[in-house]
Amino acid sequence: MKTVSILALLSLFIVVRATAQERGRTNFDDDWYFHKGDIAMKRAIKTGRQGGLTDANVKVATGVEDIAYTDRNKTPVYKTSDWKAVSLPHDWMVEEAFVHDDNIGSYPGSNGYHPGGIGFYRKEFDIPESDKGKKIFIDFDGIFRNSSVWVNGHYMGNHQSGYTPSHYDVTDVLRYGSEGKNVILVKVDATEVEGWWYEGAGIYRHVWLTKTNRLHVGRFGTFVTTPTISDQQAVVNIATTLKNEYDTPKNITLVSTIVDSKRHILNTQTTSKAIPGLSSETIEQKETVQNPKLWSPETPHLYKVKTEVKENDKTIDDYETTFGIRTAEVRRDGFYLNGKLYPIKGTANHQDFAGVGVALPNKINAYKIKLLKQMGSNGYRAAHNPPTPELLDICDSLGMLVLDENRQLSSTEDGMKDLAELIYRDRNHPSVFMWNMENEEPLQGTPMGARILKTMVDFTHKADPTRQTTAAMNHGWNTGGYSDLLDVVGYNYGQRDMQYVKDHEKYPKRKMIVTESTSFVATRGEYADDKEKGYVSNLGEGVSWGVLPGKDWDDIVKYPYLSGMFAWTGFDYGGEPTPYKWPCVTSHFGIMDLCGFPKDGYYAYKAAWGNEPVVHVFPHWNWPGKEGQKIKVGGYSNCDEIELLVNGKSIGRKKAIPFNRMEWEVEYEPGKLEARGYKAGKLVTNEIIETTTAPTRLSVSSDVPTLKADGADVAIINISVKDANGRVVPVADNLVQFSVEGPGRIIGTGNGNPSSHEPDKANQRKAFNGYCQVLVQSDKTQGIIRLRAASETLKSAEVVVKVE
Ligand code: GAL
Repeated sequence: MKTVSILALLSLFIVVRATAQERGRTNFDDDWYFHKGDIAMKRAIKTGRQGGLTDANVKVATGVEDIAYTDRNKTPVYKTSDWKAVSLPHDWMVEEAFVHDDNIGSYPGSNGYHPGGIGFYRKEFDIPESDKGKKIFIDFDGIFRNSSVWVNGHYMGNHQSGYTPSHYDVTDVLRYGSEGKNVILVKVDATEVEGWWYEGAGIYRHVWLTKTNRLHVGRFGTFVTTPTISDQQAVVNIATTLKNEYDTPKNITLVSTIVDSKRHILNTQTTSKAIPGLSSETIEQKETVQNPKLWSPETPHLYKVKTEVKENDKTIDDYETTFGIRTAEVRRDGFYLNGKLYPIKGTANHQDFAGVGVALPNKINAYKIKLLKQMGSNGYRAAHNPPTPELLDICDSLGMLVLDENRQLSSTEDGMKDLAELIYRDRNHPSVFMWNMENEEPLQGTPMGARILKTMVDFTHKADPTRQTTAAMNHGWNTGGYSDLLDVVGYNYGQRDMQYVKDHEKYPKRKMIVTESTSFVATRGEYADDKEKGYVSNLGEGVSWGVLPGKDWDDIVKYPYLSGMFAWTGFDYGGEPTPYKWPCVTSHFGIMDLCGFPKDGYYAYKAAWGNEPVVHVFPHWNWPGKEGQKIKVGGYSNCDEIELLVNGKSIGRKKAIPFNRMEWEVEYEPGKLEARGYKAGKLVTNEIIETTTAPTRLSVSSDVPTLKADGADVAIINISVKDANGRVVPVADNLVQFSVEGPGRIIGTGNGNPSSHEPDKANQRKAFNGYCQVLVQSDKTQGIIRLRAASETLKSAEVVVKVE
């Protein structure tokens, strides 16, 4: 093996050329057909047999022909016409009506009253003659769940997990050029669940078609680490696994080039090597970056390794790995990022969003992360499963630490495969700071649990020696030797009986993190519990195992060795409608609702985590009939003192206790409720809440003025119902109708009402406490999208979004 290192100081201003792409990785999301319901697959399972669903001569479409294919007993199993055209990501569950059946899911309401069922996806595609000799793979980022794949009549395999990717080598079974069209068929069986929340159904993440040379970088084939970092220099180790799928040895040169965010070349190393036929080799290279810019949520600096594999000076494969330079470690006295104590201000989150279920276009993931950052958050827990890979790209580039999570405590062959997929897929992301092995598994703290955990932790350490492991535990911290296997012990609701403080005193060497906290339940804009309607008051006390919003941060400040926290949850999610069941179909745990509209508790975290002075009081001030009665007023603030004024008259100043909800009893008088925040005696901020008059008009805003004409970008359009003076009417529930002109389409609607049974896929939505939302996705053509919102008695409004 011959290695040459070129410290490319002089080439600082050399920008990497866009070389001809050797590796082809194309998005495979378009032009699928979807069929809901089971189909007997007997016709397709004999390798190479013609006829049936994987035969390209059998056309499926929407409402064209109407041939009923029958099974052996002549019972029709599917028609060619009962398919519908879909683009991925796709979640069929969110398209279907809610069913009031307490037997759906792992407990009543757990998945949001949506039956699972079986669905099929089918797509035809061409592979040119010129691809003969290449390796060709199809990768699914995530299918919920139990998916089986056939290509041209060949059964490719089955993948159970709804959260880890699946990968198929389709090289041998493809039809090249004149051999004919290719057909891929995917059966998705979502009758079983994997959790206790809304999990969706279908091919809900992206799909990729990858073509490589027969000698290529392996799947997840690079591992970039930065073992030593100083102000002057970071050492970058690059391990590249090359796979030679020729049956003969090959002499190759591996060129690994580090570039910065502007694609300036910082360093290059070349290694020449002979790789035997039909084998894999991992090549280690060491490079440096001078004056490294460290990655952090505040400074999300990224670098890339560009990998080129050359044979006789010709590039035969190329690959790109994004990495960051940073250190991240939980120590006994807290979490350290780049050597400095850095308490994690985190939220835990499931993956769904209003209108789209779990099938989130990348843009919506970015929107969610931006909202969390605006609140002051710097940490995201991917509860309770591996997230979609794009979420991690977004966290890398926007700056958000991620606690990356495995779904199950399992050391079975399948369980270890899922864990391996997670670690190998995600170990280059600078945002990922720790691996979470499991959440609240029943076997925590038992000897059997410890045996399983040991197998998992041992593997994880070997696959990634750079990160610590934890488990999100809610019992068994001090039994069965379980905690001893973890680098960092995770506490879900460890504030109960001050468990984490007691454990810290008893086990002073233990490293700790608050993996889950809060679980405050509230419905946006509601100020009384209403079991019939399924609403929970923002002024309520929450659940027995949780705390009021922001209160959990109090403990992190008092006990920095807890490293930080992940509030349950940043956003509402489908299912788990605690403390109710039907008619609630979504959770109430979010700091924001399912559309990302903030609840009152949002301001508790903004006050705790941000630098800006915050004062927020609630409820709204529309209480006709309650004139002269005492009304409970709550408030969150990071000021020293709060003064309340009703219609300009002060009702006194009150000392604010940090991270606590303040409370007043205020005699109701329509008009203005003002809260003034004082710091060191000086007025620093205020908030005014006004009694509104009746709704008269709609107001519409888009989160962006322009969209990319890529058929995937999304504008998040928020609608509010206002009175004649332009104030949002906090109780308005008008039905709003949407229409779109131009190169875009509505992909979903929402309003944050946990008991709304309106269809998400529609061109109308009722406002809920003043707000609703519509998601508009761009087409692949340029132009102007006009989204118009109208409502019977209200003045309509429109917003214009450019597509370019
Ligand atoms: C936790 C659990 C979460 C969620 C939460 C609700 O114990 O890990 O998945 O169920 O409770 O409070």
